[in-house]
Amino acid sequence: MTSFEFPGKYYEVMRKDFRNLAAETEFLAAHASVGGRVLDLGCGTGANLRALGARGFPGVGVDRSGSFIDFARSAGGEGISYVHGSVEDFTTQERFDLVYSLFMTLNYLRRAQLRPVLRKIRELLLPGGHVVLEFGHLLNFVDSYQPHTVGHHRGDGVLITRLARQSIHPHTANWRNEETLLVREADGHVAMYDNFFDQAVLTGPEVRELLAEAGLTITAEYGGFHKEAAPGHGRGPLVFVATATATEATATTETATAAAKEAGTA
Ligand SMILES: C[S@@+](CC[C@H](N)C(=O)[O-])C[C@H]1O[C@@H](n2cnc3c(N)ncnc32)[C@H](O)[C@@H]1O
Repeated sequence: MTSFEFPGKYYEVMRKDFRNLAAETEFLAAHASVGGRVLDLGCGTGANLRALGARGFPGVGVDRSGSFIDFARSAGGEGISYVHGSVEDFTTQERFDLVYSLFMTLNYLRRAQLRPVLRKIRELLLPGGHVVLEFGHLLNFVDSYQPHTVGHHRGDGVLITRLARQSIHPHTANWRNEETLLVREADGHVAMYDNFFDQAVLTGPEVRELLAEAGLTITAEYGGFHKEAAPGHGRGPLVFVATATATEATATTETATAAAKEAGTA
């Protein structure tokens, strides 16, 4: 049983069918300062980092899939580096202008890990930095639930047939996805991969509470990267923009800096 351990090239083909990279890039770039450094948690094959790198935002990506990190490293990109490891174990002395996690990647964490990871995200922010987190929520899972799905994805000379089995476990609020990927290369070569993963079925109120507890203040909430309104029904993820909640100490420093600026001494 493996999780996201198949060639990154195939993931990129499927990603194009599920995601709008241009809209994601616009959205993320709008929440970073010019030239600011970004951190992508669960960066997959690095598609978002490469797009941001091309826009002048260098950064770091972390992912636990060795295959995806190998692909990301070989795909290059200006000013980008990768760490192969879990988001839970990731540590760095660096602080970032923008920390983000897209495509419901934080839903992959075990529930008990959500609190510590969100607190870590808050600590990794530079003063004034932003967080952009996209979560899948209960209604997405319920709305899209089908015990068996078959999908076809084409691109880069390959045809990928994705057979997926889904199950929701109500007692653990866990969504299990068991995929078989059948890949036919242009030369007729066929390969098969499995991809099994679990995602926590979270609710909007639960995520808002977790962010607040971690010291993150939500500044905007959307239903997608075109800044759609947060959905009133099942479709569409929840995209949160947040900043570090001001503590008494940071509020005092900010007031002092503002006063010094006004007095012309800063
Ligand atoms: C659906 S993919 C999304 C990848 C990327 N964010 C994107 O938008 O293309 C989920 C990714 O999360 C990674 N992942 C899942 N759990 C993780 C964890 N605990 N630590 C690091 N990466 C994780 C997987 O390896 C996979 O690359």
